[in-house]
Amino acid sequence: MQIFTTLLSYDHGILRQVLDVMSDITENDTWEQNRDALPDAADFLQRFMDQYHHGKEERFLFPAAPASEKRLKEQVDELVTEHRQAKAYADAIGKGLEDWDLDILRDNVNGVVAHMRKHILEEENNVFPEFNRVLDPEKDMPMYEESQKFMEERFGASFQADMEEFANRLQDRVMGKGVIKYGPMGP
Ligand SMILES: [Fe+2]
Ligand SMILES: [Fe+2]
Repeated sequence: MQIFTTLLSYDHGILRQVLDVMSDITENDTWEQNRDALPDAADFLQRFMDQYHHGKEERFLFPAAPASEKRLKEQVDELVTEHRQAKAYADAIGKGLEDWDLDILRDNVNGVVAHMRKHILEEENNVFPEFNRVLDPEKDMPMYEESQKFMEERFGASFQADMEEFANRLQDRVMGKGVIKYGPMGP
């Protein structure tokens, strides 16, 4: 059992849920109805996606790629570049909300949704399995514990659970209570 990459994939589930809800807003053009819920969604992209999840990958998992694994190192470099692009989308969404500019919001929500869906697939289908293959299994638990401690100190012990609850609340608010809707990657 690879604890650390499993936990990162669990984060992806929470992130995908919020991306699906944001995508629903652009598809149905329900910006005005959901205007008051959007600042929290933008904050989620900054705090959960960028600082917490991408921070955890960049600080703990990616540096563990062995120097001899050239292809994996290259893939990691690409993923880090993609993290910067995701942050740029999140910044633009924040600005779009401030100015209430729907063209900017549409472009950047569509942008971040497509970008992150692809990024998550690349991690789950290619990069995480590769890490699981090359990493010493003995280092998995210590890496998990160290990252938990680090993130808890910075974000609080209940952060992940709070964000999961937020994703459910946002979905109920935008898509209606009890709606079960799966993204393009399935349940
Ligand atoms: Fe990533
Ligand atoms: Fe990720």
